[in-house]
Amino acid sequence: MQNIANKVVIITGASSGIGEATALKLAAEGAKLVLGARREDKLKAIAAHIKAGGGEAVYRVTDVTRPEDSAALVALAKSTFGKIDAIFLNAGLMPNSPLAALETANWNAMIDVNIKGVLHGVAAVLPDFTAQKSGHIITTSSVAGLKAYPGAAVYCGTKWAVKAIMEALRMESAQAGSNIRTATIYPAAVQSELVNHITDENASAGYRQLYDAYEIPAARVAEVVAFALAQPDDTNISEFTIGPTTQPW
Ligand SMILES: NC(=O)c1ccc[n+]([C@@H]2O[C@H](COP(=O)([O-])OP(=O)(O)OC[C@H]3O[C@@H](n4cnc5c(N)ncnc54)[C@H](OP(=O)(O)O)[C@@H]3O)[C@@H](O)[C@H]2O)c1
Repeated sequence: MQNIANKVVIITGASSGIGEATALKLAAEGAKLVLGARREDKLKAIAAHIKAGGGEAVYRVTDVTRPEDSAALVALAKSTFGKIDAIFLNAGLMPNSPLAALETANWNAMIDVNIKGVLHGVAAVLPDFTAQKSGHIITTSSVAGLKAYPGAAVYCGTKWAVKAIMEALRMESAQAGSNIRTATIYPAAVQSELVNHITDENASAGYRQLYDAYEIPAARVAEVVAFALAQPDDTNISEFTIGPTTQPW
């Protein structure tokens, strides 16, 4: 794909699922990757796999709930590759349950990772992107960011927040003439570790059944990220909805 080779791309949530698949896809297209997540063993193995295939990748253990970790990831990109072209803010959690289950710790975790984690990433790149008058910020929202449904109130809320933040960021960047591009991706059921972390037993069984019936490989979403990145600099494709053909989401 044109326009991806040699781009320096940071990916959060790069240790599994959509983030891992995107790292592998972009490395194959010649991008230079900076990978962040909390599980070092996973990041190490993915970076080693990319390097064994002739690609370039570095990683840093990153908790996106900590602003200083997002800043350190950007610093690593600059010290290793000399620049940053794009960031894929993809880290996320979906420990769903009905509100009446009062899983308030999970509500807070989703807000911290899915919303604040995205904001910390935006804050970490915005000064450089503004100064260099270029940059691409891509996020993983969800179809839960387009519609609300029972049993996923807080998750939906976090993903709606991402939609709103990204749309305002796109408009502010256009108004400021900073040439910063944005893309928000709204996946439906995609194979990953996402549903493994649901603690509510009923919700867990329901999601497992849904995903077993419909899920498509995470590599499908990686193709979307690559497509967004491959666009000419004057073109911004701001939103993508992607899911299984058979899923009536
Ligand atoms: N799979 C789907 O059907 C689907 C649909 C719509 C949207 N999404 C969204 O897609 C994104 C990626 O999820 P996935 O489906 O690929 O699930 P996944 O396999 O569970 O991946 C989630 C990633 O986020 C990372 N992460 C979680 N908490 C973090 C934190 N505090 N700091 C840094 N990284 C953190 C995880 O790594 P560590 O545990 O190593 O930190 C992991 O790499 C999420 O935003 C999710 O909401 C997924």
